[in-house]
Amino acid sequence: MSKNNPEDPFVFKRTGKVVQNRSVLAAMTNKQSHDNGIISNDEIKWLAERAKGGFGIITTAATNVSKEGKAWEGEFGVYSDSQIPKLKKLTSNIHSTKSLIFAQLFHGGLKCPQKLTNKTPLGPSKIKCNESDSGYSKKASKEDILKIIKDFTNAAIRCSKSGFDGIELHGAHGYLISQFLGKKTNLRTDNWGGSLENRARILIQICESIKKNVPKSFLIGVRISPEINSIGIEIQDTIKLIEYIKKLNLDFIHLSCWNVFSTYKVFKVNATFTEIITQNYENLPAIISTGAIWSQKDAKKLLNQGADLVGVGRVAIAHPNWPKNLHDINYNPKKPPFTEQHLKKSKLNKIFINYMRNWDGFVINKKLYNKE
Ligand SMILES: Cc1cc2nc3c(=O)[nH]c(=O)nc-3n(C[C@H](O)[C@H](O)[C@H](O)COP(=O)(O)O)c2cc1C
Repeated sequence: MSKNNPEDPFVFKRTGKVVQNRSVLAAMTNKQSHDNGIISNDEIKWLAERAKGGFGIITTAATNVSKEGKAWEGEFGVYSDSQIPKLKKLTSNIHSTKSLIFAQLFHGGLKCPQKLTNKTPLGPSKIKCNESDSGYSKKASKEDILKIIKDFTNAAIRCSKSGFDGIELHGAHGYLISQFLGKKTNLRTDNWGGSLENRARILIQICESIKKNVPKSFLIGVRISPEINSIGIEIQDTIKLIEYIKKLNLDFIHLSCWNVFSTYKVFKVNATFTEIITQNYENLPAIISTGAIWSQKDAKKLLNQGADLVGVGRVAIAHPNWPKNLHDINYNPKKPPFTEQHLKKSKLNKIFINYMRNWDGFVINKKLYNKE
């Protein structure tokens, strides 16, 4: 089996679970769910349409593991058993196709608006925080940290009970896990701050705790960003972090590149983040990589960089059947802007369509709907 064919199946090593092809719908917040954290029929429809479109893996939007970890309105949660029945509806819908389904677990930390949670945003340290009424975050106590680990674990157990094939921990994009990893957001001098090992401790303990508490067949992975200057995440640290993640014997690492073709000069050569990781480590878990993939040729190029699975975001919003075209070397679907009619037909509700207006040039500016 050639490694660079996006249509080929993929087998997760530890569990033997088979993915029908190399395409992954990356997590995308879409704000379509209810205030009580119960996933809505609209959000289920949006995901199910992409499963029908042939994605190997469907990843949900970031879903909050505790009430206080909520970062946006319309986010579905996995913090209460009352949320399980509708999650079961989602997973059985997806499993009526050949796709696998992962939930992306997260806590927004400093990015959780106090006006949404009624709590001072929690972070590794007390620092300036726009989302807080006082202008400052609350420094997590040891008890807070243990509760966060427990919340992630209980959320993963709920996902397993709800029929998900696995979970992706959101360690990317500047939310709580990456706030602990970042040198500018984590100013602690105890076991949870300072060295990279200490800054990664919360991520490591969350993974260990989840592994102990879910069935062996349940897939576990983590999404990371190569670098985030604003919070002090540096690429050299991220490369070292892979060593710690490797030791956890997880099933996948998801590299959130934003552009998989951007290069970095580390180890004295220019290489993409995917190449840096796959060429410098052996016996890695499955590598998913995501960012700026649009055509079949892009997907092949990414597999040639060493990724096992190709993540896509925006192209799948407008083209739910994207994976079904991967046999065609000339497949290069239409780029933005898209009309509201097109997005509605692609099973986005009006709230999601209006949210996509924040993504420069994605929606043609003629409004079908009045503001919410
Ligand atoms: C509307 C939207 C919402 C997103 N929400 C999330 C999210 O909840 N979690 C996450 O890890 N990434 C999120 N992302 C990032 C995507 O997963 C993906 O990495 C990014 O869009 C780059 O891939 P693309 O160029 O194929 O769109 C979001 C992206 C978009 C466009």
